[in-house]
Amino acid sequence: MDKRVVLITGGARGIGRGVALNLAEAGWAVAICYRTSQQDAEEVQHTIEAQGGKALAIQCDVSQWNAVTDLVQQVEGAWGRIDALINGAGPYHRVHLFEETPEGWADMMRNNLDSIFFLAKAVAPGMKTRKYGRIVSFGMANADKMEAQPYVTAHYIAKAGVLILTRTLAKLLAADGITVNAVSPGFIDSGSSPPEELAGMVKKIPAGYIGNIQDAVQAVRYFLSDEAAYVTGANLHLSGGWGI
Ligand SMILES: NC(=O)c1ccc[n+]([C@@H]2O[C@H](COP(=O)([O-])OP(=O)(O)OC[C@H]3O[C@@H](n4cnc5c(N)ncnc54)[C@H](OP(=O)(O)O)[C@@H]3O)[C@@H](O)[C@H]2O)c1
Repeated sequence: MDKRVVLITGGARGIGRGVALNLAEAGWAVAICYRTSQQDAEEVQHTIEAQGGKALAIQCDVSQWNAVTDLVQQVEGAWGRIDALINGAGPYHRVHLFEETPEGWADMMRNNLDSIFFLAKAVAPGMKTRKYGRIVSFGMANADKMEAQPYVTAHYIAKAGVLILTRTLAKLLAADGITVNAVSPGFIDSGSSPPEELAGMVKKIPAGYIGNIQDAVQAVRYFLSDEAAYVTGANLHLSGGWGI
């Protein structure tokens, strides 16, 4: 197995899917996990395999520690290692803070933040042994401003947490040749936000347009590149100037 191995959460759809197809084209062996989108995940796997690449599509709810350890074992069992982890899964919902339920709050924390801790904890031992690793997570472009967020409170707090977790992991893993970085999108046309919501945002974006999946793919590719070997703990804004 001479290819580099990447594990991408949320790889069946949106930005994760874009990263999966791009890395497969570049010769990586690509494992994606999905929670509910089995058909989309299999489509990604078949597309990669039809082009002569190596792919795995594994069902996993990354908000659950046991499921995450199983996922990592399956990929390492199949291909011997994980060189890069891309934390693509990061769902959100819009709800006024006082309409938020305890379950909704916990869901945002578990899916956006706990999952990244679980995955990093599970992949780090193998990366440390091999003295190589790349971990890339997604924040959100205004999360470092610590603003009041009446309608996306739990999601926003989880994303601010992602940035702190990224820097903490970066510090802890730097000596082992592992970099840990965040990409923080503003508005990307990835299919996760309603088109009307995206259209309404255009006038607030200094660049004058919504970003696309390839913008996000290229940001991830930078952090995976050899040129970025000394870049760790970074938060790369990907927002056309929104949220800065
Ligand atoms: N798109 C944007 O404009 C934007 C803006 C700011 C930040 N971001 C961040 O960028 C990242 C990618 O965004 P995106 O819009 O492409 O996708 P996304 O809305 O995060 O969804 C991608 C996939 O994540 C999967 N997922 C969610 N919870 C999961 C769980 N517990 N276990 C396993 N998979 C789970 C879903 O899989 P299933 O379909 O299989 O359920 C979904 O298809 C996210 O972290 C997002 O928060 C995006």
